Amino acid sequence: MTHAADSIKHVASPLARQTLLDGELTRPVAGGRPIRLLPWLQVVKIGGRSIMDRGRDAILPIVEEIRKLLPEHRLLLLTGAGVRAHHLYSVGLDLGLPVGSLAPLAASEAGQNGHILASLLAPEGVSYVEHPTIANQLAIHLSAARAVVGSAFPPYHHHEFPTSRIPIHQADTGAFLLADALGAAGLTIVEDVDGVYTSDPNGPGGEKAQFLRETTAAHLAKQEGALPFDRALIEVMGTARHLEHVQVVNGLVPGRLTAALRGEHVGTIVHTSAPPA
Ligand SMILES: Nc1ncnc2c1ncn2[C@@H]1O[C@H](COP(=O)(O)OP(=O)(O)O)[C@@H](O)[C@H]1O
Ligand SMILES: [Mg+2]
Repeated sequence: MTHAADSIKHVASPLARQTLLDGELTRPVAGGRPIRLLPWLQVVKIGGRSIMDRGRDAILPIVEEIRKLLPEHRLLLLTGAGVRAHHLYSVGLDLGLPVGSLAPLAASEAGQNGHILASLLAPEGVSYVEHPTIANQLAIHLSAARAVVGSAFPPYHHHEFPTSRIPIHQADTGAFLLADALGAAGLTIVEDVDGVYTSDPNGPGGEKAQFLRETTAAHLAKQEGALPFDRALIEVMGTARHLEHVQVVNGLVPGRLTAALRGEHVGTIVHTSAPPA
């Protein structure tokens, strides 16, 4: 009895006797690359404003394209929030709600968009799953169906950083964190523009915007002005473990998503800081 208790007290562990706050000390144990949980998974983030808000004209063709992709790929389809979240933000900000209350409101719209997408793909066996299911049972769901749909919004909720009154961790960041944590084969971000430009091609002076066929997260961090994804995505790309790049493609052009998933360069490739495999 005493002997058993002693051996529990003296569990041999390289991290047992040191602080976890000193990177130098933890690196020999924690510095390795994590395993890829779902190395065959392709994650596709579908834009809320750019695709879902456009209704049937944009949604039905992309649904048809995804349907044809199913025999080729196993997909985690993650939807973002759009115009309804913007309206929620305006009402919530007008009422003085804190950022931690606004984040789940926007996340609920991303979920609504996911339910819409999943309903259209239901005949193919695709369903909407909640975050806890993505966290724990994605593998079994993807063994039963070629794709599942979830919300791209990360569930920070009241843990959202109060850096800004509008949540900084949005759908693109959520999709990237998930894809990288799962060790997915790739992440494709579907927008309504051909990719990333030097400035908003649809904004004032948009005709001067230059298309960036290939760039890096570090370069975009220095580029001022708007981007077609949340700025926090650039930060998490800087600490990526698996995903070496993401591709931003135009979902309004038939065939672009298909080509991107086949490894073709048809949009903007943004390189992360992940070490090469
Ligand atoms: N640097 C940029 N490059 C490309 N598009 C940009 C850029 N800055 C802003 N945009 C705009 O972002 C729009 C997409 O809006 P966004 O809020 O990302 O939609 P979604 O909610 O679907 O992700 C594009 O239509 C484009 O006008
Ligand atoms: Mg976007």
